Amino acid sequence: MTPSAITVSGLRKAFKDKSVLDGVDFDVPAGTIFSLLGPNGAGKTTTVNILTTLMKADGGTARVAGHDITADAKAVRAAIGVTGQFAAVDELLTGRENLQLMVDLSRVPAKDGKRVVADLLDRFDLTEAAGKHASTYSGGMRRKLDLAMTLVGNPKIIFLDEPTTGLDPRSRRTMWTIIRELVADGATIFLTTQYLDEADQLADRIAVLDQGRLVAQGTPDQLKRQLPGTHVRLRFTSGAELDAAARIFPDATRDDEALALRVPSDGGTKSLRSLLDRLDEHSLSAEEFSVHTPDLDDVFLALTGHTAEAAK
Ligand SMILES: Nc1ncnc2c1ncn2[C@@H]1O[C@H](COP(=O)(O)OP(=O)(O)OP(=O)(O)O)[C@@H](O)[C@H]1O
Ligand SMILES: [Mg+2]
Repeated sequence: MTPSAITVSGLRKAFKDKSVLDGVDFDVPAGTIFSLLGPNGAGKTTTVNILTTLMKADGGTARVAGHDITADAKAVRAAIGVTGQFAAVDELLTGRENLQLMVDLSRVPAKDGKRVVADLLDRFDLTEAAGKHASTYSGGMRRKLDLAMTLVGNPKIIFLDEPTTGLDPRSRRTMWTIIRELVADGATIFLTTQYLDEADQLADRIAVLDQGRLVAQGTPDQLKRQLPGTHVRLRFTSGAELDAAARIFPDATRDDEALALRVPSDGGTKSLRSLLDRLDEHSLSAEEFSVHTPDLDDVFLALTGHTAEAAK
């Protein structure tokens, strides 16, 4: 059996009388990516803060890298790296100086410092910008520098709190590649995200946090099986048209109030064309046409009966 990098049992935390974590259990095998998925305010950062010893839990136990987070907080801190939700980059320093500062604070021998900094700058494509103040960096560059700073000292367990929120699609992909490389090198990743596609792309296991409890846990495939798949939504202007369309697409589900029809589809151009052709053949035209891939809201609706928004 793979040893556990993180085990959490019955974790509880409340702020005043507001319960944020209400008995959370999970296990993260070493060398895997575990993603905690949840909307704003679900308790993701609170979980990260507790596991990284920045905050005390009210109840439950957790071990990180084999060490109890309460009894052995120092050993936990020595084994982990944390990239918080808000960048820890010092804007008044250059990229290189930020990294050097982390080296100075770490147990990296001074003689290796320069090489460690240069390697990280290179790996994150920041060599060219290394001499500029971080205040001039774009959001994506800042995120990359932040993650590079986390990797000084080569932590075995890395916590990433919403590492791609606010990044453009290209920077998100770069970040995903870097995360995969870290795991290939043997690290364990604890990742929080609000994006289903990100958890799907990266995680070996996903846990969905809702109102202080994990409402689902499993592989991305196991979770997605519980979801309505990709579909096309057609909206019509009259009940008669909706009736006619529903007869053409017997697999579809109808929403009478919205005069809309949800037709299962893979969303590819071929199936979209044939769908439109069939509407045409029956002289039907939709007022509105949209392709819908499951997102966090669908996960919540399917798992909890309410949307992520309503969970707050
Ligand atoms: N120090 C604190 N004092 C009081 N309430 C707090 C504190 N930290 C978090 N909370 C509350 O706990 C709840 C969970 O917050 P948390 O930051 O863990 O959510 P999150 O899942 O990280 O959300 P986001 O996606 O917005 O980052 C929120 O309702 C928040 O207001
Ligand atoms: Mg957060």
